[in-house]
Amino acid sequence: MLSNIAHFAFLVVLKIPSCMANSRLQIDQQAGLLASICLANVTKQIDLTPRSIVRRSNLNTNPDGSTFLWLPQDEYSGKTFFDGFAFFSDGDPTNGHVNYVNRSRAFERNLVYTQDDGVVIMKGDDSTWLDKGVYRESVRISSYAQYTTGLFILDLNRAPWGCGTWPAFWTLGNGQAGEIDIIEGVHDNQHNQVAWHTKDGCTLTPGANFTGNVVQLNGKDNLDCDGRKNQNSGCGIIEWSRASYGPYFDSIGGGVFAMKWDENGIAVWSFYRAAVPKDIIDGSPDPSQWGAPSAALEPKNCDPLKYFVNHSIIFDITFCGDWAGNSYATSGCPGTCDDRLMDPGNFVNATWSINSLKVYRKQPIKGRITNESASLFASHARSLFIYIFAIISISSAL
Ligand SMILES: *[C@@H]1O[C@H](CO)[C@@H](O)[C@H](O)[C@H]1NC(C)=O
Ligand SMILES: *[C@@H]1O[C@H](CO)[C@@H](O)[C@H](O)[C@H]1NC(C)=O
Ligand SMILES: *[C@@H]1O[C@H](CO)[C@@H](O)[C@H](O)[C@H]1NC(C)=O
Ligand SMILES: *[C@@H]1O[C@H](CO)[C@@H](O)[C@H](O)[C@H]1NC(C)=O
Ligand SMILES: *[C@@H]1O[C@H](CO)[C@@H](O)[C@H](O)[C@H]1NC(C)=O
Ligand SMILES: *[C@@H]1O[C@H](CO)[C@@H](O)[C@H](O)[C@H]1NC(C)=O
Repeated sequence: MLSNIAHFAFLVVLKIPSCMANSRLQIDQQAGLLASICLANVTKQIDLTPRSIVRRSNLNTNPDGSTFLWLPQDEYSGKTFFDGFAFFSDGDPTNGHVNYVNRSRAFERNLVYTQDDGVVIMKGDDSTWLDKGVYRESVRISSYAQYTTGLFILDLNRAPWGCGTWPAFWTLGNGQAGEIDIIEGVHDNQHNQVAWHTKDGCTLTPGANFTGNVVQLNGKDNLDCDGRKNQNSGCGIIEWSRASYGPYFDSIGGGVFAMKWDENGIAVWSFYRAAVPKDIIDGSPDPSQWGAPSAALEPKNCDPLKYFVNHSIIFDITFCGDWAGNSYATSGCPGTCDDRLMDPGNFVNATWSINSLKVYRKQPIKGRITNESASLFASHARSLFIYIFAIISISSAL
């Protein structure tokens, strides 16, 4: 773009040199790179700020003043989505009445596939009648790649829900290396529950800046994330939005969940389809522009680099079990969870429909943005000066 405009200026000035004396280049810290050139014998000011600099608006600042960008690291989508994941086919550690199937069985039974339009489907079996007490087939997959920090952005058309169904999108480390639940719910719930499960010593910070409500225990906010206490309930935050889980989320076309994990803490945002920020759609995410998160674990009372290490990304759909089974009787769902499990028609909405999962890595940018851009402006300015110098030399010669 820059060289085209410079060429254009060159031609115009050659034909009409009279206002040439006013031609100049100006670097304005606020406005960017400006050039005054002759256009139809009138001095015009043109903004030459290169696109690369305008798009740097997703540059973020740490509390210590240092700057960084979230840059693309991994993308899971389309036909290659499942290449990045291992299929877990052991018994469900959360006691779900589920048979997690291996990769070949999952593809053979059409529990996982990629549509022609690139949308990735992952679901529980919704075609087989079962005898009472028989477990329903489903999938649990875990990324080969492991992450310690990152910005994880999941774009979904639908997330699983329905009586007896208990899905989750989460990250998990080995042993005591922590768990971050990004999407989780049961039955026909409408509110997503974000949660952390850690070893001893990690708590939510009271008064932290998020829009959800802390899950209570015995009538009080439970701040303790220790996964070995309270039947592994961890510390949870329920999103306020009725569109964050279940039927309403699906009916409005799904949306985007983002989990940011860095030395400044862990936070989760959810956006229903119509409210997905443009910077996410453009692939240059800028969490500083998204407002307060739905849920946040502040670094003050829980070191995000100590309690969470080497996490795989996991999707699963289980049935009944520790949460969906134990809460079934009070959920408003009909009959018992085991009765519910028999009819495949009860699981038509137990489906993940995924557009993409993108992982961004935090890239520190040395120096400050004003000086960073100033040096970029300067390097472009040099090439433009060469053109202007050429213009002056040629016009003086004429
Ligand atoms: C350009 O402007 C100058 C005065 O600034 C004038 O003398 C000259 O005639 C103009 N040339 C044309 C082609 O209009
Ligand atoms: C996958 O599971 C099916 C059915 O459970 C089994 O027959 C098959 O041997 C398994 N394949 C592998 C590679 O483990
Ligand atoms: C909470 O976060 C929002 C959005 O980032 C910000 O505008 C607001 O000032 C914050 N409030 C507090 C108390 O930090
Ligand atoms: C995390 O993974 C890295 C790279 O594989 C390894 O060097 C490190 O020991 C792991 N840390 C923990 C706590 O497992
Ligand atoms: C599945 O979702 C559709 C659309 O919201 C709804 O009409 C239907 O009752 C749901 N079925 C089950 C079994 O939840
Ligand atoms: C960055 O550049 C601006 C303007 O050129 C200057 O005022 C400021 O002191 C510089 N900051 C640093 C940290 O060098």
